[in-house]
Amino acid sequence: MTSLQDDTSAAPAAPFPTGFRWGAATAAYQIEGAAGEGGRGPSIWDTFCRTPGKVLNGENGDVAVDHYHRFREDVALMSSLGLTAYRFSISWPRVQPTGAGSFNSEGLDFYRRLVDALLEAGIEPWPTLYHWDLPQPLEDKGGWPERETAHRFAEYAAHVHAALGDRVHHWTTVNEPWCAAFLGYASGEHAPGRRDPSASLLAAHHLLLGHGLAVDAMRAETPGNRFGAAVNLYAVSPATDAPEDVDAARRIDGLQNRLFLDPLLLGRYPEDVLADTERYGFAPPDADLAVISRPIDQLGINYYSRHTVAGTPGEATQTASSPFSTYSPWVGSDHVRFVPAGRPVTGMGWEIDERGLYEVLTRLYREYPSLPLYITENGAGYDETPDGDGTVQDAGRIAYIDAHLRACHDAISEGVPLHGYFTWSLLDNFEWAWGYSKRFGLVHVDYATQRRVPKDSARWYADVIRRGGLPGRA
Ligand code: FCB
Repeated sequence: MTSLQDDTSAAPAAPFPTGFRWGAATAAYQIEGAAGEGGRGPSIWDTFCRTPGKVLNGENGDVAVDHYHRFREDVALMSSLGLTAYRFSISWPRVQPTGAGSFNSEGLDFYRRLVDALLEAGIEPWPTLYHWDLPQPLEDKGGWPERETAHRFAEYAAHVHAALGDRVHHWTTVNEPWCAAFLGYASGEHAPGRRDPSASLLAAHHLLLGHGLAVDAMRAETPGNRFGAAVNLYAVSPATDAPEDVDAARRIDGLQNRLFLDPLLLGRYPEDVLADTERYGFAPPDADLAVISRPIDQLGINYYSRHTVAGTPGEATQTASSPFSTYSPWVGSDHVRFVPAGRPVTGMGWEIDERGLYEVLTRLYREYPSLPLYITENGAGYDETPDGDGTVQDAGRIAYIDAHLRACHDAISEGVPLHGYFTWSLLDNFEWAWGYSKRFGLVHVDYATQRRVPKDSARWYADVIRRGGLPGRA
């Protein structure tokens, strides 16, 4: 494969530290396909996609971008971009089809081959153990609102780590527990599609507990490896200085950010969030917090946008990605409104606000114990159509990533220990409830032929990696 990297030796105007990880991210259900192959069991997403009205156009991940069969081609693509690290997720139902009891060695072998191919290409593997594809039999027994699921997760994590931990050194337990808990169990927009606020709070707690139990189990096997979780954080601002708006921002920041960061990093739930959610009977056992807050070695941050919120009554705004319905069971639909702040949006309707990323990073540095940080997701989704020759001129994505990398650079200059950046995503893929309608990849995929064609952003990113930083502003 020819290299995508331009032949330029210009020194970057915004250099990143030596050893900074330059990566891209994907997730199993979104790319692998081969849903019925290799002994894989059903996950909650297989079931959800088959439930009418849940996923746009009734699409599903049965084939996705066929990465299960094409992973060697995809690793070659990563090489041609010059990626130094690759974040992917391991499908629990591929490795342990019923989520309990026997493991499927054929499933694990796929990840062995993938890891070997990555290492051979000089690309560091960064697996995530849970990116939302819970084995369906575990959901049938109650899913994440059941404490037992946390224990099952730790057992599965230990098994995968025992197989790969000698060659894989950076491990992410759960991806975006906010989404798994609240989109999955409160708003019902994601699998398993339940709408039960009390259950969603228990799900959040057990995802965190599963994280802590998994860290313990894996660390017992190989103490030298590095463990952490990936959380989706938002900058949150009040629409005005009015006390109602300021309080709305406190509540949303509480549910979105602090509900996860405080237990993980401080070993306690935020008092105000416990008070806000008291009516749902959320009373997590104190003893669990010691497990949830086991020291971690790295924190993954997924950042896409900012929420601007108002606490005064008015018309609720629903954008493509509105978390409004997610929060409404909690905060009262007439008491928190997500309002547009007038910034340009991506094809998801998400406002582009790189300053928010800087705020999130510097806040973590200020308010929480300092630990190595990685951007484990950041990117822009559009509804793109390629030119006649299959190429995609995605200037919007380039501008988005450039701006967010500059925000990372600013944070690093102020001492924030940020050590890597993984853009979402390497390839166009199955975007959950949006089906295949939104494309986030650096590489365009023709879903009919599975042909991969790097977009302009792929060439641009390869050049940034080669230079070790960003060019001067045009
Ligand atoms: C994140 C998910 C990821 C992808 C991006 C766009 O919330 O972790 O799988 O869908 O959003």
